[in-house]
Formats: sequence, C-alpha cells, structure tokens
Amino acid sequence: MPRPTVNKQWLLAARPHGMLSEASWQLREAPVPQLAPGEALVETLYLSCDPTQRGWMEDRPSYMPPVGLGEVMRAVSVGRVVESRAPSLEVGDLVEGMAGWQQYSVVTGGGPFGAAKVPAGTDPQQLMSVLGLTGLTAYFGLLDLGAPKAGETVVVSGAAGATGSIAGQIARIAGCKVIGIAGGPDKCAWLTGEARFDAAIDYKHEDVRARLRALAPHGVDVYFDNVGGDILDAVLEQIRMKARVVLCGGISAYNEIEPPPGPRNLMNLVIQRARMEGFIVIDYAARFGEARDALKRWVDAGEIVYGVDVVQGIERAPEALLRLFYGKNLGKQLVRVAE
Ligand SMILES: NC(=O)c1ccc[n+]([C@@H]2O[C@H](COP(=O)([O-])OP(=O)(O)OC[C@H]3O[C@@H](n4cnc5c(N)ncnc54)[C@H](OP(=O)(O)O)[C@@H]3O)[C@@H](O)[C@H]2O)c1
Repeated sequence: MPRPTVNKQWLLAARPHGMLSEASWQLREAPVPQLAPGEALVETLYLSCDPTQRGWMEDRPSYMPPVGLGEVMRAVSVGRVVESRAPSLEVGDLVEGMAGWQQYSVVTGGGPFGAAKVPAGTDPQQLMSVLGLTGLTAYFGLLDLGAPKAGETVVVSGAAGATGSIAGQIARIAGCKVIGIAGGPDKCAWLTGEARFDAAIDYKHEDVRARLRALAPHGVDVYFDNVGGDILDAVLEQIRMKARVVLCGGISAYNEIEPPPGPRNLMNLVIQRARMEGFIVIDYAARFGEARDALKRWVDAGEIVYGVDVVQGIERAPEALLRLFYGKNLGKQLVRVAE
C-alpha cells in the first residue's frame, strides 16, 4: 500500500461557552509526518466519544490539562501500526492510546497513553466499550466505592449509556435489585429487556421521585450517579441507612455556564449515616487487567451485554460527540475512522 500523505485532523478552534456546538472545531488536512528513530505511525481505527472531552476543552484546572487552542482535539483511540521505527511496535500491531481526532498519529509505544499494544485478535469495538475506560469506570466505581451486597437496591442514572449500562449489570451480577434511570421509552425497554435491569425509570416522561418511592419502598442502598442535578437530588431524598452514593459524573451540568446550585438533600447523608464519594478511573490503572478479565468473562458468559453506537468517518467526530449531550447514543458512542 502506498504511504498515506494526507492526515485529516480536527483542531480545537474556540473554547465552548454553554451548549457544545460544532463551531468549536476546525477540520484541516495536514501532511502525514515522517518518522524519527523510535517512533511508529498509527492509523486510527476507532475514536471514543466521552462526556469528559467537553471538560478538556475548557481552560480551567482539572484532572488533565486543557486541550490548547489550535491543537488536535484529544480523544481515546484504538489504531493499527502502519509504519514503525519503534523497537516495541510492528506493522499490524493493534494499539490503544490517545490519538485524538486525526487519521494518523505518531507514537513511541511508551507511557500510560503512549499507544499500548493490545493482544492480536482483540475486537476493537469491545476494547473501546465494555473493556475500555467506561467499562472499567463502571467496574471500579460500583464495586470499590459502591460495595454492593446481595439483596441491596442499586440505582444507576445515565443507565443506558456506556458506563451506566455496565454498572447496572455488575450490580445485578452482585445479586442486587437494579433500577436504571434513562431518557425515553426505548432506552428503558432495552434496560429491562436485553440488559435485564429489574426496573427502569424514564426521567423525561415520568416522575422520578414517585417512581423511586414505588420501586424502592425501603430506600436506595447504592446510587451510581452519572448525571448529577435534579436526579441526584431525587435519589438523595430516598437513600437508606449507610447508603453509598458513587459520584461518577454529572453530565446534566457539563454545558452549563455557571455550576448549578448544589443538591438540596445533602442533610440526608447525615441522617442516614451515608457516604458520597467521587473517583477518576485512571487512578485504578494498576488494576485494569483484573477488571478486564472479569468483564470479558461476564461478556463471554452472556451475563453482560453492551451497546455500541458507531458513527462513520473522521469528518463526523464533532457530531458524534454531540450525540452524548442530546442522549442520542445507546451504549458506547464511537467514531469509526478506518476499517
Ligand atoms: N469518573 C470517571 O472516571 C469517569 C469515567 C468515564 C465516564 N465518567 C462519567 O460517566 C458519565 C457517563 O459517561 P459515558 O461515557 O458512559 O456516556 P454515556 O452515558 O454513554 O452518554 C451520555 C448520556 O448522558 C445522558 N444525558 C445527557 N444529557 C443529560 C442530562 N442533561 N440529564 C441527564 N442525562 C443526560 C444521555 O442519556 P439519556 O438519553 O438517558 O439522557 C446520554 O446518552 C458521564 O458523566 C461521564 O463524565 C466518569
């Protein structure tokens, strides 16, 4: 195959203000770089779409530095080595890393996101979803922080998304009663059907507080929160003694200009002697292997199902990311850049 010459890239052109829009990025065609000794050229196969990318675009302190204006938009990726001067990487190797929104990237094969080699035969879609950062987030957030016990009631918001759908199914495997909260009847039907949640609440059309009271009359033991805002408040109202509230994310506020006022029901943590704790999945990097083994076992045994929502083409990366904030994705949102 002739060496590729053109590298389509999306650059961060303007920082978002309020609701994210495609105006934040600019598409350009750059030359495919030549390699120095120790480097390899990776063709991007899939890009992961993650709500946290909205945060990376802001110029404010976070768990990672912001993406600079004029830089390639940061994104988690899986790709294939197409040329190599790196001793640890061979042409054809599958690697996971942080290529960003571009067709080709230069890597060295080292560091936490420096393109780690993945075993041959790995399914790239599975690697980017249930075995990827969102599956790992569900695993550690639910099991380490939520510490569910058989017979307990677990509530998950953002339940039909990449993280929530896996968190809820792990809770079911742990022997819990699982209630998912998601937007729309189709997502709720998927949760109680394919994903075998015990119940689902459509927050766009139902009264979350009333439905929770009916479905969890004795209260909620574990709440895995992906959305924050009013849904967090509704669940806090109904936590049980010694409940664990896992703060995974708060997507309902990611496009707000000012942070919304805090939950009104925090005093319930005092009354119920409950715990609320946040986490970032990368802190668990040393244990990713353990989690991936368990998740793979559950997938192979049919205990966990996972949705993958694929948008085709690097040109559509912005549109794909926006789908998360409009709730258009079922399961993991990906961009397929190359076959
Ligand atoms: N702590 C960590 O290390 C870590 C790691 C990964 C992800 N996260 C967090 O986990 C959460 C889920 O991420 P994901 O990648 O799995 O995304 P996802 O759940 O696959 O997609 C986002 C979903 O959020 C829901 N949503 C969007 N706007 C909303 C709103 N205003 N109110 C309520 N729900 C809304 C939509 O579902 P509906 O149709 O149901 O509204 C959408 O499908 C995010 O908060 C993310 O930041 C945290």
